[in-house]
Amino acid sequence: MSLSILFKYNQNLLRHSLLHIPKTPSPSFSSSSSSPLTRVRVKSSLVTKAFSSSSEMVKAIRVHELGGPQVLKWEDVEIGEPKEGEVRVRNKAIGVNFIDVYFRKGVYNAPSFPFTPGMEAVGIVTAVGAGPTGIQVGDLVGYAGQPMGSYAEEQILPANRVVPIPSSIEPTVAASILLKGMTAQVLLRSCFKVEPGHTVLVHAAAGGVGSLLCQWANALGATVIGTVSNEEKAAQAKEDGCHHVILYKEEDFVTRVNEITSGDGVEVVYDSVGKDTFEGSLACLKRRGYMVTFGQSSGTPDPVPLSSLSAKSVYLTRPTLFQYVVTRDELLKSAGEVFANVVSGVLKVRVNHTYPLSEAAKAHEDLENRKTSGSVVLIP
Ligand SMILES: NC(=O)c1ccc[n+]([C@@H]2O[C@H](COP(=O)([O-])OP(=O)(O)OC[C@H]3O[C@@H](n4cnc5c(N)ncnc54)[C@H](OP(=O)(O)O)[C@@H]3O)[C@@H](O)[C@H]2O)c1
Repeated sequence: MSLSILFKYNQNLLRHSLLHIPKTPSPSFSSSSSSPLTRVRVKSSLVTKAFSSSSEMVKAIRVHELGGPQVLKWEDVEIGEPKEGEVRVRNKAIGVNFIDVYFRKGVYNAPSFPFTPGMEAVGIVTAVGAGPTGIQVGDLVGYAGQPMGSYAEEQILPANRVVPIPSSIEPTVAASILLKGMTAQVLLRSCFKVEPGHTVLVHAAAGGVGSLLCQWANALGATVIGTVSNEEKAAQAKEDGCHHVILYKEEDFVTRVNEITSGDGVEVVYDSVGKDTFEGSLACLKRRGYMVTFGQSSGTPDPVPLSSLSAKSVYLTRPTLFQYVVTRDELLKSAGEVFANVVSGVLKVRVNHTYPLSEAAKAHEDLENRKTSGSVVLIP
């Protein structure tokens, strides 16, 4: 089932690429020799709107100084017209990710100030720059990653970083799943390949990425152990395929994992919590197990002496999604697998929290205070 959906998704991409003959080689998902006029005829009303909005201001969240959620300001910005190889997209739904918090606080450095945060959105193309893109005004597209700036009603994106959204997936659902789902895909299929019979430990199992990791790992045939902070999140994690759930604020998760695995440990730990869990996670590993540390919701883990890896000859990796979806093919493969799993029902997308875009500060506050589960989405 998944494969046939993936096939259809790729056929859809192929259809896009067959629409236009490339003038020059392009890394984009298709290329175009059609003039903007051709596109005007296709969807004239949208194009008219796109042209008339060229000098319009749009609303966006901007950060002028690092700090708490209150530094997220609701302002007017001018976005201009897309240049060659770019598209302008009117966002319908914007994914909130913990990485947005890191940039707001200065854990990661923003390229300049003021900046608009956000690395994930889904919307309708309102204008297409010159040159080959293969994208038309009116297309529903999504992106996850660079450039930062999705907390905006409208934004300019490189055409080769956007992916078409299958018509069966709602924009809000797509914006909840693209970055988090591709992260899960990379972690489970590339960083460490989960196989039937493996036992995996997923921290923050009811979170945006955590929920998807648990569902997908279960579908791959693994025994899934999840950690969460409260009973409500525990119930969700169970529904999402966790065979064992540990309340890590009340129980020592290392002791519990030892009990569950009869002292064997787990093949892999997916640790996004960082400082509070890192050391314990290492202790939960089997001989030659994989420590996949991919986030730091509780703070950056302390430096690790190499010798701490030798006792069980464990592997340690610190992946970022963006190093795994660099080429166009990698991006489309990862997104395609995620969408296929949504359409086939392997992944239930939990859009548990939506906020108006203007209330992004509230969304950040709730995410940081562990009040959210599943995905958090902003609606322009
Ligand atoms: N490496 C990558 O490419 C990549 C890509 C995407 C996401 N990530 C990382 O994956 C993690 C999850 O991202 P997400 O957007 O899906 O967020 P999320 O998991 O929905 O939210 C973070 C969760 O972490 C847990 N947590 C534990 N200690 C915490 C603390 N001191 N403060 C706040 N939260 C704490 C909370 O769950 P409990 O209440 O159950 O403890 C909280 O709900 C983040 O660390 C993010 O940076 C990494």
